[in-house]
Amino acid sequence: MIMKKGLILVTGGTGYIGSHTVVELQNSGYEVVIVDNLSNSNRDVLDGIERITGQRPAFVEADCTDMGAMRELFETYKGISGIINFAASKAVGESVQKPILYYRNNLNTLMNLLDLMGEYNVKGIVFSSSCTVYGEPDENPVTEAAPIKVATSPYGNTKQICEEIITDVINSGAPFKSIILRYFNPVGAHPSAEIGELPNGIPQNLIPFLTQTAIGIRKELSVFGDDYNTPDGSCIRDFINVVDLAKAHVIAIERMLEDKSEEKIETFNLGTGIGLSVKELISAFERATGVKVPHKIVGRRVGDIEKVWANPEYANNVLGWKAEVSIEDTLRSAWAWQCRLRERGIM
Ligand code: UD1
Repeated sequence: MIMKKGLILVTGGTGYIGSHTVVELQNSGYEVVIVDNLSNSNRDVLDGIERITGQRPAFVEADCTDMGAMRELFETYKGISGIINFAASKAVGESVQKPILYYRNNLNTLMNLLDLMGEYNVKGIVFSSSCTVYGEPDENPVTEAAPIKVATSPYGNTKQICEEIITDVINSGAPFKSIILRYFNPVGAHPSAEIGELPNGIPQNLIPFLTQTAIGIRKELSVFGDDYNTPDGSCIRDFINVVDLAKAHVIAIERMLEDKSEEKIETFNLGTGIGLSVKELISAFERATGVKVPHKIVGRRVGDIEKVWANPEYANNVLGWKAEVSIEDTLRSAWAWQCRLRERGIM
């Protein structure tokens, strides 16, 4: 029998980035228990994970803001050594409409976990943060030393506050470590097309809207603005492959559990280092897949950042992690996933 490396609690593990991370954890020899309230995902994701890894992760349907349910989980699954916290509400626009929901979900989830970590001797927590903390950066590419800007949405504010909560708790002498990962724009799907992004309703993010347009679910993609101060006038982002992103979480967990660093808290940007405009991305998709994406230019979307891309050198050098999958392969994987959803009659 293969010795497992440790039991990892993945909150939000049936979600988009969570499910890809569970796959990489299991492939690396970790045992996983997922907790998810299925508010923006479904149980079928567990089948996809099992088909890829040959292993079905343990699953608890619960809300991480429910301390009673979380305590029960920690009692049932003794010996959790690390946590990766994906469970959060993440729609920027919705957060403006329902701020209390966002603050309650995102902050209470984290505080419950931090409380339980102390009680149950968990060694470390990886926190999903976002480049949104940099707001409109003064300079690109953005390093971890760039100033944190005033948040433009309650969603963005929860990420900033969560980072502060973790810092304060660690500085108060908590007996565990934390690694904060600031994602740029996660895109694509697992190359097997067994798991991928499955937003509820009309997608707010670029790639799901684009692939749904390419397959004919949506009539056309709106490009939000072409009058920005960028070479082609559309916004620039750093699109990072979701499997590459997932692998960084395994490295982060290992770093904490194996005490590879003296630091109790560390923060890393996770991006490719390449800025691509929205228009360039559409062209890249059409080239990579041979499928046309009907699109039109419309007005700017309120709250959008003009341009932001990562300087990922710190993660490259310190974690030994680097984005590897090309944007073409990434876009092909997103397309293959969309086609799989169609085959299954889901979309
Ligand atoms: C936002 C958040 C980010 C969060 C992510 C996932 C900010 C500043 N960014 O990223 O923190 O992690 O959502 O929820 O809060 N676009 C179109 N047409 C569309 C959709 C998008 O042109 O139909 C454009 C947008 O204007 C933007 C780019 O595509 O320039 C990417 O948009 P999106 O995928 O929504 O992600 P962000 O807004 O960058």
